[in-house]
Amino acid sequence: MTNKFQILKLCTLKQKRQFHNSSVAYGKTRMKKFSIYRYNPESTSKKPHMKDYLVDLNTCGPMVLDALLKIKLEIDTTLAFRRSCREGICGSCSMNMNGLNSLACITKIDPNLGNPMKIYPLPHMYVIKDLVPDMNHFYRQYKSIQPWLQRDDEIEYGVQQYLQSIKDRVKLDGLYECILCACCSTSCPSYWWNGAKYLGPAVLMQV
Ligand code: SF4
Ligand code: FES
Repeated sequence: MTNKFQILKLCTLKQKRQFHNSSVAYGKTRMKKFSIYRYNPESTSKKPHMKDYLVDLNTCGPMVLDALLKIKLEIDTTLAFRRSCREGICGSCSMNMNGLNSLACITKIDPNLGNPMKIYPLPHMYVIKDLVPDMNHFYRQYKSIQPWLQRDDEIEYGVQQYLQSIKDRVKLDGLYECILCACCSTSCPSYWWNGAKYLGPAVLMQV
């Protein structure tokens, strides 16, 4: 008789076999060029430049972050970029891919092998290294608007629970979903030219 642990084991084996078959089904390799912005502030000899990497899409996941991780793990460990959740919810992998600001973990690799993917850090930001922008100014601007729930009346904390009404909760919809990736602000020309004073769309939305 097969118990539940044996069934689990069988399922895992089956999944592994299917994954293996799908990766070899294409037969030959599908090499795709990624042209990536590189900048190392500790290297005085090299100015910012683009560096090309070839990745076999048959052995790579479908998203741009998969390709970046593959490059870092298998080709060039010096490549720097941010990522955490790989689910589109932390906002850390925002970058400019083929001219569009988005999250690398939910952006599909363009399957056309004739077109190299060009990857830059978010536009008009100071760059710490490679694809890692300096987000300090953006976060300072966010902090400046005091983006937390504030009551109109005075209360004594620690005395009783203050429940939020459904009506008040609804007011947050469309605002709380922002993951502060800065894709919108750094694609806004007004923010490019007046970023020192202008708060930008991401922050203004929460005022
Ligand atoms: S509003 Fe702007 S910063 Fe917030 S998640 Fe959307 S693109 Fe990112
Ligand atoms: S890794 Fe978290 S949003 Fe992409």
